[in-house]
Amino acid sequence: MKKYWWQDAIIYQIYVRSFNDSNHDGIGDIPGIIEKLDYLKSLSINTLWISPHYDSPMDDNGYDIRDFFKVAEEYGTMEDFKKLIEVAHANDMKIVTDLVLNHTSDEHPWFLAAKDPSHPDHQKYHDYYIWHKGHTAEDGSRIRPTRWISWFGGSVWDFNEPTGEYYLHIFSKKMPDLNWRNQAMREELKAMVQWWIDLGIDGFRIDASNHLEKNWDFPDDSPGYQHFSSLPKHHEYLQELADELFIPNNLLILGEAGGASKEEALQYAGFDSNEFNMLIHFGHVWVDTDDSNQLTPGKWAKGEVKLTKIKEALSHWIDVFHEKGWNTLYWHNHDHPRVVSHYGNDDPKYHAASAKMLATLLYFLPGTPIIYQGEEIGMTNVDYQNLDDFKDVEVFTEYENFMNHGASHEVAMQALRDRARDNARSPMQWSSEPYAGFSDQAPWMPVVGNYPLINVANQDKDADSILSWYRMLMTLRKEEAIGFSYPSFYHLDKDDRFAYSLKAKHHTYYVVGNFTSYPIDFTPDVDITAMELYATNQPTIEGSLSPYETRVYRQKK
Ligand code: GLC
Ligand code: CA
Repeated sequence: MKKYWWQDAIIYQIYVRSFNDSNHDGIGDIPGIIEKLDYLKSLSINTLWISPHYDSPMDDNGYDIRDFFKVAEEYGTMEDFKKLIEVAHANDMKIVTDLVLNHTSDEHPWFLAAKDPSHPDHQKYHDYYIWHKGHTAEDGSRIRPTRWISWFGGSVWDFNEPTGEYYLHIFSKKMPDLNWRNQAMREELKAMVQWWIDLGIDGFRIDASNHLEKNWDFPDDSPGYQHFSSLPKHHEYLQELADELFIPNNLLILGEAGGASKEEALQYAGFDSNEFNMLIHFGHVWVDTDDSNQLTPGKWAKGEVKLTKIKEALSHWIDVFHEKGWNTLYWHNHDHPRVVSHYGNDDPKYHAASAKMLATLLYFLPGTPIIYQGEEIGMTNVDYQNLDDFKDVEVFTEYENFMNHGASHEVAMQALRDRARDNARSPMQWSSEPYAGFSDQAPWMPVVGNYPLINVANQDKDADSILSWYRMLMTLRKEEAIGFSYPSFYHLDKDDRFAYSLKAKHHTYYVVGNFTSYPIDFTPDVDITAMELYATNQPTIEGSLSPYETRVYRQKK
C-alpha cells in the first residue's frame, strides 16, 4: 500500500476566533496561532486545520465569505497568514484551511451584482446563484417556491425585491447558495483554490461538500433535505476539483459529508476514488437525539447516551475503510457540544477521569486523529445564563422555533447549553488569569466559569492532567504506528464498557473503559497475566472497573 503523509498526521482543529488573541481586541487571530505553535508541538500536532480565515461579515463566523482573497481584518493580514504558513512549515507542520464552496456571503461582489438588475455585470453573476419566481396565491399574495427548511431553521428561500425572485440559502439568509451547474462560476472557484495552493496550503477541509447539487425540479416537500443533500451529481463536481487541483498537488482533503452510506463513503474517500482522502461524517456524534421530544426537536432533543450506538458507529467506519480507504478519528468539532459534557461527565468528581477515558478509547483506533481545540484539557459545555451570551446565528432562529413549539425560556436555555454549537466555541482556556488568558480584554463571547480550574497552564505542570494524558497518547500513536492497526472489538453489545485489542508496531494492546458513573464488574477479554498495565486513570481494583476508569495493557510482540 502506498503511504501518504496524512496517514501519520495528528491534526488539531483551530477555531480562530476563540483560540488566542494577540492584539488585545478580545478576538482570536492569526498571530495568536503563531504564538501557540510550540504548545501544539508539545502535543505532537503536525497538521493544523484552521476554520475560515477569509474576509467575512461573520454572520456564521466566517463560513459566509465576502472575499476569498483576503484575510478577515480582525484575524490579521495576508502577511500574517503567509508568516503562519512559513513558521508552521519550518516546524514541520502542515496547514489545512477550510474551503467553503457551497455558498458565499450575501455581501460577496458576485451576489451584490446578482441581486441588482442595474449592476453592469448582473447578467453574468445572476446565474452564479439559485433563483426561483415562487408562486402566487389566489388572493395575489406571494408563496415561496417550496417548503424546504434551512439547516439553521426557517425557510431556505428569501425574497429579493429588485429582481422579484427568491434566492436559495440552505444555511442562513446571509449565505446564498452557489449554482454549481454554472461552469464560469466553477472556473472562478478553481482559480481561487489554485491561488491558495500556490501560497503554500497543504490541504483543505471541504465544507458542506454533499450539498453542492440541488434538485432543480424543486419538489415541494418539507423539510426537503433530500433535495439539497447527497444528490449524485455533486460527485462530478468533487471529481473535477480532485482531478484538476487536489490530486496533482498532493493535498490532504478532508470532506465534510454527513449521512453517507458505505458505498458513498468509498466513492468519496476510497483509495481508488480520491475525491477526498478522509471523510468527516457524523455517525457517532448524535447518538442521543430523542424523536419523542416535541419542544426542542431534532438534534436539540437530548435522550439517553447509548454506548452501543457509539461503538457501532466507530466500528462501522473502521470496517468501511479497512484496506479500502482511511479513517478519521474525532469526538467533535466546532459544530457540536463538548465531548466531556456530552459523552463523559463534567462533574468535577469525574471530569478528568471521563475525559481521559474518552480519549483512550478513541485514540487507540486506526486512522488520523483530529483533536478539537480545548478537548485536550477537557473543556466543557458553556454555563451561559443569558440568551445573548450565545453568539451563533443558528441559536436565534432555533430559540424562536422552540418558543413556537411551546417551550419555556428555561427549557430552551437548557437545550442550548446541552446542544448549541457555541458550546465548542467559547474562548480557549489558557490560564487562570482574567478571561482565561485568552485575551486581556472582554472576549467576543464569554469564557466558561470553570477556567480557573480547567486551563492549559495548570495542566501543563501536572503529570497527571488530561493534557499530559493526551501527550502520552499522541506520542504512543506515533511510536507505535497505531493509525495502521486494526482492532478486534469485544462485546459491542454492552452499554457500560468499551474494550478492544490491537497489534501495534512493537506491542499488542488491550484497552478497556467504563463509560458509566458507577463501578462495573470486569473480567478481561484476553489473558492479561503476561501483560503490563501500561496506563490507567485511577487506582485499579481487581474484578471491577471504577466509574470512568480506563486501562491500557500491553505486551511485547
Ligand atoms: C459546515 C460548518 C458549519 C457551517 C456550515 C455552513 O457544516 O462546519 O460550521 O455553519 O457548514 O458553512
Ligand atoms: Ca485579536
